[in-house]
Formats: sequence, structure tokens, C-alpha cells
Amino acid sequence: MMIRSVVVGCGSYLPERILTNADLAKMVDTSDEWIVERSGIRQRHIAADNEKTSDLAIKASQAALKNAGLTADDVDLIVLATATPDQTFPATACRVQAELGMTRGFAFDVQAVCSGFIFALATADNFIKAGQAKTALVIGAETFSRILDWTDRTTCVLFADGAGALVLRAEEGKGNTDDRGVLTTHLHSDGRHNDLLYVDGGPSSTQTTGHVRMQGKEVFRHAVVNLADVVKETLAAVDMKPEQIDWLVPHQANKRIIDGTARKLGMGTERVVLTVDHHGNTSAASVPLALAEAVADGRIKRGDVLLLEAMGGGFTWGSALVRW
Ligand code: UT7
Repeated sequence: MMIRSVVVGCGSYLPERILTNADLAKMVDTSDEWIVERSGIRQRHIAADNEKTSDLAIKASQAALKNAGLTADDVDLIVLATATPDQTFPATACRVQAELGMTRGFAFDVQAVCSGFIFALATADNFIKAGQAKTALVIGAETFSRILDWTDRTTCVLFADGAGALVLRAEEGKGNTDDRGVLTTHLHSDGRHNDLLYVDGGPSSTQTTGHVRMQGKEVFRHAVVNLADVVKETLAAVDMKPEQIDWLVPHQANKRIIDGTARKLGMGTERVVLTVDHHGNTSAASVPLALAEAVADGRIKRGDVLLLEAMGGGFTWGSALVRW
């Protein structure tokens, strides 16, 4: 017997405003053809001026709690992944906690940029397995549009805004891969690559918020290798074969990276959840947004085995294998 973190609800929120590649072509020297060919992105959602990361997170959380048939009173842990918090401090998770009307338990943010949701999920899973939380809300939420340099065509066409959330509940499992819930998680970082993907500002260095800077080609190269490694490590840890995975739910940075990972696993596109075309790269929100979409349209069903993976600034990368 062992405690498992079983997913009992999921939800998401996307800001109303849609920015198309054609819109971007009016702002910087780019084209729909270039963006689609290099990244697979066609459009993305951008938060309204008065919409903060916490606003997106709260809407996604309310949807997830409703989907779970629970209220904020049932939650004793919030882990929120974001690289675009409302304020330098307190944690955006505490703002979400207050707005949801949750007055007990504890809430905090994790910072692993695009891998943030995987890090948050692994953290919540470990608190649950340690018996320190029973019901956890795990959120990925970003207003990445706020840290983009809208004159830099190498980054501003890629990133976007949104939020997704899962509700996890402690349940007893047998300890094998037939259990529902989080089956295994694997986290990695390598701080030597700071300069390939970073924000050129911060409270301690420049006292400004800063803008995203990325050496795209280099990040791409590392992403392909690191994601292949972590996927292999994940399957080996639970002695499963790629054929036993029902859905690959990858971080949505670039269609070419996703296709490459799927190809290495021998998984056809019919078993891959792809949202990068209409969401863009929403950093920590991308995996839960993809999950929520595939659950809502009936593709992901109870009992399915899902492989979640992501790679981002830090570098950070990781995976989670989940039986839905
Ligand atoms: O989520 C966190 C992790 N992030 C990622 O995983 C992103 C990884 N990187 C990528 O997805 C890709 O590297 C990009 C989509 C960012 C770029 O694709 P690429 O095939 O690596 O293109 P590139 O950076 O090598 O650029 C090719 C050309 C360059 O021109 P030259 O030097 O060949 O003359 C760029 O200046 O495309 C040019 N370019 C653009 N052209 C039109 C760069 N950005 C644009 C643009 N529109 N927006």
C-alpha cells in the first residue's frame, strides 16, 4: 500500500484577446509563414491590461475545483508555478488562496519557468506522499506578455498568457502502475546555461522587471536531448514501454520539438496533445492548459496513462507519469 496523488479535477483559463501571426507581422519584421514553419504557432492569447497572473490562476482554479466537485475549504495546499508573479513578493499563490476564500493550509510559488508546472506537480505529490497535505491545488499561470520585448522578433512571436490547474487528492494505492495518480516524477536543472534563456532584470540586480532573452537555436538543441533523456528515465523508473503510454502531454514551446520527442517514443501524432498552434508558449501554464483541453474534449479518459514533460530556463527540465 502507498499514498498516491490522484487527479480529481482540472480546469483552465485563457484571456479573451487573441493575437494572430498576422497581427504580429504588423508589429515586427516577421511573417505567418516563418512563425508557423519554425514553431507551429498560429495564434495566442494575451491578458487584458487589468488582468494579472493571479486573476488567470483564480479562474483556472475555480474551474478545477468545480470539476472536482470540491470547494476551497477542502484544499490544504496550493503550489503555483509562475515566472511572472503579480508582485516580487508575496507569492502569487497567497493571493489565489485569499481570493478562493481558503484560510487554512499553506500556499507558495515555485519558479522553474517553462518546467514550472512539472516542478509544482512533483512538489505537491511529495507533500501528499509525506502525509503533510491531503488535497492540493497545483497551478501553472503566466502573463508572459508582460516580460516580452515587443520589438524583439526572436521572442515576442513565441510566448503567451494563460493558466491551468489540477486538484490532487491523497488516496491509497497498491504501489504499482495500475494505481491512479502520479506514478513517478523526475526533475533536473543545470544552472550553467543561464545565459541561453533568461530575463535581463530583477529586484536584486537591476531593480527592474526585465525582458526575456533567448538564444533559440541553442535552447532547441538542449531541449531535444534533455527531453529524450528524461522520457527514457521516466519509463525505466516504472519499467513501462512507450506503447503503454496513452497520451504524451508535452510543454508547448515548439511543434518541431514535440514531434521529435514523439518520434523517439514511436508515438504517432494521434497520441500527442498539441496546443502550441493556438496557445503559443505559455511557459508554466502550457502543460495544464493542454491537459484541460484534452480532458474537456474527451480525448483523455479516466485510467489513461499520461506522460507530461517540459524544459525551460535554468535550464530546468522534468517529467511526470500520471494515470488519470
Ligand atoms: O519554453 C522554453 C524553451 N524554449 C524553447 O524550447 C524554444 C526553443 N527554440 C525554438 O523553438 C526555435 O529555435 C525558434 C522557434 C526560437 C527559432 O527557430 P530556428 O529554426 O532555431 O531559427 P533561428 O533562430 O535559427 O533563426 C533563423 C532565421 C534567422 O535569420 P538568419 O540569421 O538565418 O538570417 C533569424 O534572424 O530566422 C530569423 N528570425 C526570424 N524571421 C522572421 C528570427 N525570428 C524571426 C521571426 N520572423 N520572428
